[in-house]
Amino acid sequence: MNDSKQTAASGAAVADAFASEQAGSKLVEKPVLYTHNVNVWYNDHHALDDTSLTFNKGEITALIGPSGCGKSTFLRCLNLMNREIDGCQITGDIIYRDHNINTPEEDLYELRRSIGMVFQQPNPFPKSIYENIAFAPRCHGLRDKASLDQLVEESLRGAALWDEVKDKLKKSAQDLSGGQQQRLCIARALALKPDVILLDEPCSALDPISTLAIEQLMTSIADGRAIIIVTHNMEQATRVSNRTAFFYMGEMVETGETEQIFNAPRTEKLQDYLNGRFS
Ligand SMILES: Nc1ncnc2c1ncn2[C@@H]1O[C@H](COP(=O)(O)OP(=O)(O)OP(=O)(O)O)[C@@H](O)[C@H]1O
Ligand SMILES: [Mg+2]
Repeated sequence: MNDSKQTAASGAAVADAFASEQAGSKLVEKPVLYTHNVNVWYNDHHALDDTSLTFNKGEITALIGPSGCGKSTFLRCLNLMNREIDGCQITGDIIYRDHNINTPEEDLYELRRSIGMVFQQPNPFPKSIYENIAFAPRCHGLRDKASLDQLVEESLRGAALWDEVKDKLKKSAQDLSGGQQQRLCIARALALKPDVILLDEPCSALDPISTLAIEQLMTSIADGRAIIIVTHNMEQATRVSNRTAFFYMGEMVETGETEQIFNAPRTEKLQDYLNGRFS
């Protein structure tokens, strides 16, 4: 068996194992995305060790932990963004819609449509507000003007930006404020109707009012999809997330419901982190 077939087969085995493990539990719907023993190397540096996590539709998961512990590395595995980094190797299973996407055959273009990403610094295209939203759906074959107009409006409304920009859709997206640009980036992701949205410290460059707007937005877009957010802001994690995973030095040390993680941490490392014994 060649490597990719072996990986695909092991992905199927993990999916089956998950199904039988869950058969007796209360969980009705399968997770939209989960990882099993994911490891990441940047050349010789082992940045992520055997990480297994599960993401359900309708839930927001916060990834927390000190700087350099592997949060962004893990997040970037979920839509294979790490593949763009020279010398980066990912092993293990990343199961999306019941199949292992960590294979060389995976269609990255289609995958990133379903698993969208929003970065720390808002990165609108140097185009109009309208074009920022319409560009990717048009590339994916949506040509009809009325349908594109409708999608642009729906996505901007979904990202709580429509009222602020409806009269200047032809203006450059780069003239918007930082908070508006970040909501535009979220609208851009929403236009592709993703199942999963990955956000890497989306508020770190924003003022408190824009941060609040993004937090409210996250809650409103979580319906029917999984949201995964990396944050250094513990208050933010408690405000927005249902589940939290704590990373430390390349390991996912503890995960659980957000309330438990912050009120009754089980591991000493997490207790130390929450008590500010390391940052
Ligand atoms: N492109 C890269 N090339 C080489 N090493 C990298 C690369 N990106 C991250 N690393 C290393 O992998 C480890 C994890 O980094 P990562 O960026 O995932 O941490 P993080 O938890 O997101 O940190 P922060 O909170 O500072 O953003 C670090 O030791 C980092 O130096
Ligand atoms: Mg990071």
